Amino acid sequence: MDPQKWILSFTLICILGVSVFMLSAMDSSTIRTEIIGKLNRVVPDGLGGWSAALTSQPSGKKLKGNKLLPVQVNLTVCLPTFGRPGKPVYCCPPRNMLDDPIVDFEFPDPATTPIRVRRFAHRLDEESIAKYEKAVSIMRSLPYSDPRSFTRQANLHCQYCTGSFLQQHSTLPVRVHKTWIFFPWHRMLLYFHEKILGSLIGDDTFAIPFWPWDLPDGMTLPAFYLNGSFINHQRDPTHFPPAVADLDFQLAPGGTSPEEQTDLNLALMYNQMVSGAKTAELFMGCAYKTGEGGDCFGPGTMERAPHNTIHKWVGSAFHTGREDMGVFYSAARDPSFYAHHSNIDRLWEVWRATHPEVNDPEFLDSYMYFHDDTSRLVRIRFRDVMDIDKLRYRYEGVENTWLAARPKPSVSPRLARREIRKREKEQNVVELPTGSQFGPTGRVLDSTVTVRVVRPREVRSRARREKAQLEEILVVEGIDVKADDFVKFDVYINVVDSTIMSPKYREFVGTFVDIPSGSSVGKKITLKLGLSEALEDLEADQDRAIWVTLLPRTESCNKVIVDGLSIQFTRK
Ligand code: C2O
Repeated sequence: MDPQKWILSFTLICILGVSVFMLSAMDSSTIRTEIIGKLNRVVPDGLGGWSAALTSQPSGKKLKGNKLLPVQVNLTVCLPTFGRPGKPVYCCPPRNMLDDPIVDFEFPDPATTPIRVRRFAHRLDEESIAKYEKAVSIMRSLPYSDPRSFTRQANLHCQYCTGSFLQQHSTLPVRVHKTWIFFPWHRMLLYFHEKILGSLIGDDTFAIPFWPWDLPDGMTLPAFYLNGSFINHQRDPTHFPPAVADLDFQLAPGGTSPEEQTDLNLALMYNQMVSGAKTAELFMGCAYKTGEGGDCFGPGTMERAPHNTIHKWVGSAFHTGREDMGVFYSAARDPSFYAHHSNIDRLWEVWRATHPEVNDPEFLDSYMYFHDDTSRLVRIRFRDVMDIDKLRYRYEGVENTWLAARPKPSVSPRLARREIRKREKEQNVVELPTGSQFGPTGRVLDSTVTVRVVRPREVRSRARREKAQLEEILVVEGIDVKADDFVKFDVYINVVDSTIMSPKYREFVGTFVDIPSGSSVGKKITLKLGLSEALEDLEADQDRAIWVTLLPRTESCNKVIVDGLSIQFTRK
């Protein structure tokens, strides 16, 4: 090699080395802070009264004391991140977002804006499919410099799942999974995505369809996603129609008949929407806020499954993370992502119809930014998306059959109780008192764990009427997901026949399903499961203790450590 070439190659290798080092160091918050300090620019003030007070502080400055604030995005710098452990990604926009005009969100004018009706994907007529396809093909043809382009739309999801942007007043990244932010953020994403698609074909009635994987007629991937601009090659072809979606997907083939799979799906839905979702925290996830103690990791029922499981089920088995759909940085590159989330959004509405609203100001005043159909950057608060009438869209009515799929105990409760008593006598039971921990090193989930957990006495003795107001919650504390991929374990109570453990039976009280992404590595997750209805059906609501079984469902569980179990009560 002549010396000139040699010097050139050497320089290139050095540059490459330094960038790889920089990228791998990005996880460390100190380096992040330094970068932010240097590039700090303040979000312009005076856009509107409601946000001025919050943005008047320099955006990178940390909060003092333990004040909690709504989550807001610091747009001054966009960082390279990890899409999943070991997978560096860069999904930032090509230019600083603050260079775009920023406006505050305004509701569409009801006098001039028609209602968009989101329809059952499998029942779309040819004409609607053709329109939708055309819109997606135009979106795909837009250049990357255009925020309305398909790749930019997909990267938006990547930015907020991997932590490309930090929170205002904090060095923590903004994350849109594993907390109550999950529902409103994805609603906003869909809202703007839909508007853009509609504007590209000049149709202000255009609506994205929903993929109702929860209903017997909707459990297959909608067939049109296999054609034209809807094609994505990073999917699992063994899950193409007529394969029935496995809402309880755990990587291994379900192996059940379509009828059995349908029943299992309905029972799981009942658990995730009804018995396991009696409070907002159980359904939506933990209260995510800016400030000390506000950063939490605790996904709700719907997010864990079917949301996460469907993501994994659609994605390709040839990729580590089952990309595209199987992991969040790439998920929105698959057009079916939007119909999947449209269904999630619909189910949020179904749940909200019968449950009280979250009214914490830190929730309602959290705000995000999205480009609209005219490429302006719109600042929008969660409180702006709480009424879909005002957003001028709705869902075609369907019958939520899973409402009637309340699971039954796998053996008669009376027999079960007798058996449990017998075992308690025979075996020298190691009892975990309430709030117990698995010891200083926790418990690795490399095999099934069964422990007896004593319920707090004051609650057992409460009057029935009072009890009806309370939800008993099993907390699986400090779940350390060291695994670098998909983790799933299930939780059962009072199991007597361990050969028939399935969400089809009442002993199932929930599932932990985790898709690791760049912004959550190394953080412990809390799993909360509603017990009251199951305890009632198992006739165990007067018992002193319950038997809890943690059942690993993926091999990756052998790297998962759990700190302990406890029982809590909250008002419904
Ligand atoms: Cu942000 Cu379905 O994921």
